[in-house]
Amino acid sequence: MPGPKTVVFGTRLGFYLAAIGSAFGLGNLWRFPYVVAENGGGAFVLLYLALVFLLGMPIMIAELALGKISKGSLSPALSKLIGERYMVRDIREKSAVLPPLVKWFMRHLGTLSMMITVVVLAYYAVISGWVLHFFMQLVVSLFNPAHFEPGGALAVLLKNGWLQLLLTSVHLMTVAVIVAKDLEFGLEKWVGYVMPMFGVLLLVLAFHSLRLDTATEALRFLFYPDFSKLTLASLGQAIGHVFFTLSVGFGTMVTFGSYLREKVYIPMAGFRVSMMDSVISLWAGVMIFPLVIIGGQQFAGPELLFQTVPHLLEGLPWGLWFGVAFFLCLYLASLGASIGLFETVVANWREVRRVPRPRAASTIAILCFIISVGPALSTNVLSDVKIGERNLLQFFDSALINWCLPITALLISQAVIWTLKHELVEAEFVSEEQPSGRKIYRHWVFLLRFIVTPVVVAGLVLQLISLF
Ligand code: PHE
Repeated sequence: MPGPKTVVFGTRLGFYLAAIGSAFGLGNLWRFPYVVAENGGGAFVLLYLALVFLLGMPIMIAELALGKISKGSLSPALSKLIGERYMVRDIREKSAVLPPLVKWFMRHLGTLSMMITVVVLAYYAVISGWVLHFFMQLVVSLFNPAHFEPGGALAVLLKNGWLQLLLTSVHLMTVAVIVAKDLEFGLEKWVGYVMPMFGVLLLVLAFHSLRLDTATEALRFLFYPDFSKLTLASLGQAIGHVFFTLSVGFGTMVTFGSYLREKVYIPMAGFRVSMMDSVISLWAGVMIFPLVIIGGQQFAGPELLFQTVPHLLEGLPWGLWFGVAFFLCLYLASLGASIGLFETVVANWREVRRVPRPRAASTIAILCFIISVGPALSTNVLSDVKIGERNLLQFFDSALINWCLPITALLISQAVIWTLKHELVEAEFVSEEQPSGRKIYRHWVFLLRFIVTPVVVAGLVLQLISLF
């Protein structure tokens, strides 16, 4: 059964804008710097970049191909691969043998991914609420400059769980209304258009950062690989972050692929989106790291972005205006990403159960809101609740991104490579404009079969060992 909106991306540009609108988000600006800081800098950045192209990009291509070929989201696509749903054109690889246990896994993989997506959406909404708060604080400061005090806005927010819940609910409602009214692609495209502007803004801010005294030290930290700084958990954390920032392992790219018209050359799409996403993350790093040490105080953890940017604005002419523009763009980026996450769950649900869009959207929003209570109260009412050394927000972030996501991304990629008809996949690589398509296909198959599995498994095992 085709998805409800098979021809959403009428143009190639429309698809790119939406894919970038979804990939670009808090992962690049909020999560990347703090994970890099936790893992000692340069060596981790190098590892991250290598994994973007060795694991992230190939899996993104696999997800897009699965969606495009099966014309469905993750759950229905997997049902087609195990022969529990039928298409006019058979998309199953006949030579693949599927033992009952493998079938069982494939049947439930879609549901598992959706559960992860919902929980990620919930704490993503909490951080989006933080962005909204900073945006509003800066708008107020435009009229009353004395109001702005770096550090003040964050302290107020972290202490006030109810404020965080309020902001989270505003964000979730906005996303739910957009998706319920079927406006998401119009809007995501629009977000995609805003991104180049955001790129320019980041460039300006990064240049300003580079003029600070700490810039040399920061660049050395970011780009000089000192492998002794990597820990046993670093590989797993790099893998998880790559998947998160490229939006793979959630089924998002499968849904996007299912909305694709014939025209887009998937391998190139995977390459371009991965490339742009990484460049933006590096830029964000260059902007933030010169500010990480201020007045002898070292900033770290999930608050890093919100601790450093206000200091950057303070030293900048027109700083408040830059601040308003920065947090507005960042909010739009997190809105685009949240829409991508939300749409994935709605699309999967609707294709399996045919629920009306508004009902699906409101149910998911309520569920996310309930889940978000934990992370929103993690720095105040529930600050004593710790799992290991982590508060609830950090625990959600680490458990989902470092552990669950690598597993789902690995399983989705293996389902594609072994059970989706090879001929059909190869046809996505070979085109008249791409004479080397066959070679690219062979490299891609090699990566998915022989690199992705051992590297992801090694990442998980090393992380497990690091726990003891
Ligand atoms: N890639 C987004 C980010 O970097 C997060 C995201 C994941 C969005 C999955 C959509 C789907 O913030």
